[in-house]
Amino acid sequence: MQSTASPKTYRVKSFGCQMNVYDGERMAELLAGEGITPAPEGQQADLVVLNTCHIREKAAEKVYSDIGRIVKDWDRADGSSPLIAVAGCVAQAEGEEIMARAPAVRMVVGPQAYHRLPQMIRDASAGRRVTDTDMPAIPKFDALPARRKVGPTAFLTVQEGCDKFCTYCVVPYTRGAEVSRPHAALVDEAKKLVDAGAREITLLGQNVNAWTGDNAKGRRIGLDGLIRELAEIPDLARIRYTTSHPNDMTDGLIAAHGDVEKLMPFLHLPVQAGNDRVLRAMNRSHSVDSYLAILDKVRAVRPDIALSGDFIVGFPGETDAEFEDTLRLVDRVGYAQCFSFKYSPRPGTPAAEMSGQIAAEVMDERLQRLQTALNRHQMAFNEASVGRACSVLVERKGKHEGQWLGKSPWLQSVHFTADVAVGDLVAVTLDAAGPNSISASVRSGT
Ligand code: 5AD
Ligand code: SF4
Repeated sequence: MQSTASPKTYRVKSFGCQMNVYDGERMAELLAGEGITPAPEGQQADLVVLNTCHIREKAAEKVYSDIGRIVKDWDRADGSSPLIAVAGCVAQAEGEEIMARAPAVRMVVGPQAYHRLPQMIRDASAGRRVTDTDMPAIPKFDALPARRKVGPTAFLTVQEGCDKFCTYCVVPYTRGAEVSRPHAALVDEAKKLVDAGAREITLLGQNVNAWTGDNAKGRRIGLDGLIRELAEIPDLARIRYTTSHPNDMTDGLIAAHGDVEKLMPFLHLPVQAGNDRVLRAMNRSHSVDSYLAILDKVRAVRPDIALSGDFIVGFPGETDAEFEDTLRLVDRVGYAQCFSFKYSPRPGTPAAEMSGQIAAEVMDERLQRLQTALNRHQMAFNEASVGRACSVLVERKGKHEGQWLGKSPWLQSVHFTADVAVGDLVAVTLDAAGPNSISASVRSGT
């Protein structure tokens, strides 16, 4: 085994969900704490962390081709080699295979073990190949350094893992059982994020609305209690949360949408399919009607709520008629924006063994039809918001001189021209809608 000098520069490449983005940010902070600096744009990094996603097809293939590219591009004449770490859900699910198949990989680190990266890097620099895919969820957060500098929008992981075992999904195996981070740690981290510049916090979890904890008085609270408490932080302007399971959508959380002003009018509540037989085969434990009943309740307390969801087309055994039910559901709900995917058999999940796997062409056609419908609704939602007065949280400069980009309360991308700065909350009127963004003008007198 060859040894490498300690890395001086790093690059973290995150794929997949927002949870992975959060983990990637925390890894970067951890590396910075070790005195390793981000590699400048266009330059090779001494240490590359591939923070992978395993939820859909070709994720592992992508990792191997990324590894190949890093090795091929390595042009240092000093006989050294890049330090490559594979992190995230592919590392958790296929760590051993990666080590066997890709000799260039020096570290494999699972989503619950990345706080141990500094020691792993020391071992790897000394020539060892190291794997850590342990799953003690809480110690990771205790071991991570405090957040330093954040932008106006920040993620805060409050919960990890999943106990629902939907038959298509790999998450219960890669991220483990549902674990809630303790209340005090979250309040503390949220305050630090706000002190560091965050004006909006998105609470993250694979089943974020399953979060539960004991508050300072020792009383058991749910996500709604946590949201209410965070809403008391004076300089925090906006709170969001994602992603939720219909079964954990409590009346308390629904009520919070009606009376916590800082909780933004947006709900990402995946349904996956619009047919009860398919939902049962997916082990979703909700029906089309029970899902719609939740949306009705949310709309009753917050009529302008923007609804979002996830869909899978081509689940094993899904017939044309069952797929049509999904289209009908989409038309009934009128989503503001959605994610939709072709079913992908994940090794080790029950659905991968089911009969009736759907042909690729059928899935392609269904996905196209679904996305056409979803795009139509997204456009309709955007058009319906023209004329609305709202706030925009400024996130960054736009392409044009004097132009700024930010998000509306309904999570639409909004652009406008004004004399403002990143982190400002600007009062605007929404003027013209496109499929993916809205132009606005600043309201005078604000
Ligand atoms: N195939 C396709 N899509 C999937 N998702 C999860 N597992 C699979 C799979 N095996 C989708 C679901 C989930 C989102 C994060 O990814 O829609 O809500
Ligand atoms: Fe991918 Fe799911 Fe893991 Fe996120 S939690 S990285 S979406 S497999």
